[in-house]
Amino acid sequence: MKIMIAADYRKLSQMAADIVAKQVQTKNNSVLGLATGSTPEGMYSILSHMHRQDNLDFSEVITFNLDEYVGLAPDHPQSYHYYMKHHFFKQVNVKSCNINIPCTEKNNPEKVCREYDQEINNSGGIDLQVLGIGTNGHIGFNEPGRLLSVDTHIVDLTEETIEANSRFFKSKNEVPRRAVTMGVGSIMKAKKIMLLASGLNKAKAVKEMLSGKVTTDLPASLLQLHHDPLFILDHEAASLFQAKE
Ligand code: F6R
Repeated sequence: MKIMIAADYRKLSQMAADIVAKQVQTKNNSVLGLATGSTPEGMYSILSHMHRQDNLDFSEVITFNLDEYVGLAPDHPQSYHYYMKHHFFKQVNVKSCNINIPCTEKNNPEKVCREYDQEINNSGGIDLQVLGIGTNGHIGFNEPGRLLSVDTHIVDLTEETIEANSRFFKSKNEVPRRAVTMGVGSIMKAKKIMLLASGLNKAKAVKEMLSGKVTTDLPASLLQLHHDPLFILDHEAASLFQAKE
């Protein structure tokens, strides 16, 4: 388990982008697992810059996104399809046929879930999975609870997540109540995992994630069982964890 502490969000984003760039340079047909949310925005922006400036080549890269809301059309400005296009895909040269994001708009959600894990396996498995963490310790949309699902599945979002994500919508009522997410098993199968956490509002979840104990009440704590996880934290997100050290 490796933990890197960055002085601030900008440095965290640079560290994360450097790791993705190295992955892609080492294996040009890398399979990347990607996350949305505020945290990886800086990383996507730096990677886009590296593509323009240094010809960082994504032409053979295959991507799988962690999750998507159920019921939002891909062109809805709050959909994760839209986010990925805006922040990353239209800035770099990933081929559209190599982009995978679960889409339930016109398809049966259960079928989408079944086929998604199959597609990941067919691609050879995820080489590097990028993750954020929710204030309640969720990864993807695997919410705290008594049971966690192994495979890609449909999930009812918790009030805490709906509240946290309402900042992207006009009102809380507009936040979809359900999402498709890769399961904890799909995530743990990735060859490498890189979790990013920034800001004081993540400090408690980060402390519990790295506590040495594993619980379904804090899904990110499972990552301690992965064979090659990297946690990149900024000082604020690391503050309670470091206070404990
Ligand atoms: C996004 C995702 C979520 C976010 C988490 C943190 O694809 O899977 O688990 O990583 O909610 O979101 P931010 O970065 O907005 O704090």
